[in-house]
Amino acid sequence: MNDLIVKLLEFMKKTFSGVQPSGELHLGNYLGAIKNWVSMQDEYDATFCIVDLHAITVPQDPKELRRRILDVAKAYIALGIDPEKSNIFVQSDVNAHTELCWILNCVAARMGDMEKMTQFKDKSAKGDAQRASVGLFDYPVLMAADILLYDTDVVPVGEDQVQHVELARTLARRFNKKFGDTFIVPQPELTTEGKRIMGLDDPTKKMSKSAVSKYNYITLMDEPDVVRKKIRKAVTDSGSDVTYSDERPALQNLLNIYTLLSKKSIKEIELMYDGRGFGDFKNDLAEVIIEFLTSFQQRVNDISDEEVKRILKSGAKKANEQATQKIQEVKEKIGFVM
Ligand code: TYM
Repeated sequence: MNDLIVKLLEFMKKTFSGVQPSGELHLGNYLGAIKNWVSMQDEYDATFCIVDLHAITVPQDPKELRRRILDVAKAYIALGIDPEKSNIFVQSDVNAHTELCWILNCVAARMGDMEKMTQFKDKSAKGDAQRASVGLFDYPVLMAADILLYDTDVVPVGEDQVQHVELARTLARRFNKKFGDTFIVPQPELTTEGKRIMGLDDPTKKMSKSAVSKYNYITLMDEPDVVRKKIRKAVTDSGSDVTYSDERPALQNLLNIYTLLSKKSIKEIELMYDGRGFGDFKNDLAEVIIEFLTSFQQRVNDISDEEVKRILKSGAKKANEQATQKIQEVKEKIGFVM
C-alpha cells in the first residue's frame, strides 16, 4: 500500500462486520448485511471478519468448519468485497480478540448486561439452557471485542445484531470512563428493506439457517429448481394483489427481496403486477433470485483455496498490526506491566 493510501485511510471512518461460518450463507445474510458492506467499502476503511470463534459457541464438526471458513471468505469476495479495498481475515488468526474479550469480561461487562441478551435466551431455550456453552452466553462480549479493537465507527448488521452492538457501545463507554478515552463508541447501521428478511414459511420470524424447515430460507448455493420450489411454497397473505403494506408481512418480505435483487423500486414492481396476481409475481421473483445466485455461484467456483488462503494470510497480518496496538494500550491502561 503506498503512503498516499495509508494517509487517506487515516482520515476515513472505519467499518467492521462479520459472519459466522456455522452454516451455509442465506439471502438474509446477504441482503441484511453483506450487500451493505459492498457499498460501504468505497467510503470507509473497511474490515470484514470470518468469526470462527463465535461459530464454536455451538458444536461444530472440525472438518466441516475448516471448509466453511474458506467458503465464507470466498462468498465475501464473490459477493463483491474487494480485498484491495477491504481487509478480510479470520478471527482466530488474531489473538487480541480473545484477549480483549477476557479483559472486557472482567472490567466492563456485568452479569446484568448479559442476562438481557435476547439471542442467548432464544438460542439456549431451543435446547437445554443448562447445557448451553458458557461461550454462547459470553458471545456478545467477544463481538464487542471484535468491534472495539479496530476503532470502528459503524457496524453494518441486520436487526438481530443491534442489541449486541448496543452492548459494545455500553462496554466502550464504561471502559473509557474508568480508564480514560480508549475506544470509539460504534454505531449500528441497518438498511431499510434488508434489515430483517423473514422466513419464507413464516413471515413473523427472521430467515434463519437453524429454522426447522428448509422452506424457511434460500441459501446462496441453492440450485435453480430448489429456488423455484421454495418460492412457489412461500406463504402469501390473503387477497391477490401485489401491494406493499405492513399488514401483509409475507408479501412485504417477498417484495423486499425482489427490490433488493432487481434494482427495481417497490412502486415499479407493484405496477408490473397490477391485476396479474401472485402466480406471475412469484415465478418472476424466483427467476430474479436464480439469476443472482447463478452468477454468484460461478464467481465462487472461480476462486481457488490457494487464492483465498493467500488473501486471508495478508488480511490477518494487517489485522494483527492494528489489533496489537489497541490491546497493548488496553493492557497498559488496566495496569499490566508492558
Ligand atoms: P450471523 O453470522 O448470525 O449473521 C451475519 C449477518 O447477517 C445478518 N442476518 C440477517 N439480516 C437480515 N435478515 C435476516 N434474516 C438475517 N439473518 C442474519 C446478521 O444480522 C449479521 O449482520 N454475531 C454476529 C457476527 C459477528 C459480528 C461481529 C457482526 C461477530 N462479531 C462484529 C458485526 C461485528 C452473527 O452471529 O452474525
